[in-house]
Amino acid sequence: MSKIIVTGGCGYIGSHTCIALLAQGHEVVVFDDLSNATKESIDRIEKIAGKRPELCIVDLKNKNATSAAFEAHKEALAVIHFAAYKAVKESVDHPLQYYENNFFSLINTLTAQQKLGINNFIFSSSATVYGMPETCPVTEKSPVSTPFSPYGNTKKIAEEILKDHTAANLDFSVISLRYFNPIGAHESGEIGELPNGIPNNLMPYITQTAAGIREKLMVFGNDYPTKDGTAIRDYIHVMDLAEAHVVAVNRLVDQKQEQNFEIYNLGTGTGYSVLEVITAFETQNNLSINYEITARRDGDVPVVFASTELASKKLGWTAKRDLNSMVKSAWNWEKNYRKND
Ligand code: WQD
Repeated sequence: MSKIIVTGGCGYIGSHTCIALLAQGHEVVVFDDLSNATKESIDRIEKIAGKRPELCIVDLKNKNATSAAFEAHKEALAVIHFAAYKAVKESVDHPLQYYENNFFSLINTLTAQQKLGINNFIFSSSATVYGMPETCPVTEKSPVSTPFSPYGNTKKIAEEILKDHTAANLDFSVISLRYFNPIGAHESGEIGELPNGIPNNLMPYITQTAAGIREKLMVFGNDYPTKDGTAIRDYIHVMDLAEAHVVAVNRLVDQKQEQNFEIYNLGTGTGYSVLEVITAFETQNNLSINYEITARRDGDVPVVFASTELASKKLGWTAKRDLNSMVKSAWNWEKNYRKND
């Protein structure tokens, strides 16, 4: 039994990762400031996993509060760090808030860990660090370019902070996980994505359109150089992503890492266009989505999908769930959540 601290564990990917950690027998403590999620996530996790993570409500931008929170859990063996702002458009409008929140939280967490000797850290990164990839599939050696948003830049700079920190502290180990496009929900339908306000991302916008909350989906451009003109992404089931985090944290806890700073893509290796996702959603859920083709969205790249070779070879992990199960689980959650509305 090992205690794992999950910062941002009330959020979409964090809560699904808590479920996967508990299923593997880990003890979980969630650090969350509830700025982008509610305590209800803890109830949902308990209902699914049959065990309740402890919740510590803490603002990780506050150095003293962070230090006190870690002191109370100094026997933890690792931290999985999700706590960050992550809305691309919001980051363009409020860059300073993004830099302050995402870097202060990261640095306070690393400082607290170093003081207590909690020397394992899993970082929630993003394929957005690749910017506009020259070739696909994208490997971990593909050039990291200037991402298109302050949000993406916080991920890129955070990885540089982690690289420097691990170079200076060889007893501190980091695995950075670069997510492609996480979608879907736990098969129970008891937990899923809950964006604040109008969704920026494709899947919640689709499910809210299907639920009648949004009048229609705007498809941002069909003049890309792809099979049907719409942009291609590597969608990955959130439970596959969650399970990858457990594999990664076990790798560090069991001291199986080869370097003290490792980076892995988390994708399926298959790209789907926006129209293919819409069609899969309609077919799997036996409904039709009202959508309109509109202009491209600034900053969108035409095609991006992952090479999954390194994660498969080194972590022994590959995504298991297909697009059909992703779109089914997304709708299952939306229906389930709305029925209590
Ligand atoms: C996917 C595709 C859109 C909405 C971003 C971040 C990434 C990650 C996931 C943050 C694109 C199209 C979308 C809509 C549409 N992290 N689309 N209509 O932009 O690939 O990645 O979110 O959470 O770091 O960069 O994801 O879901 O916004 O877009 O046509 O209403 O769907 O143009 O082609 P994206 P997305």
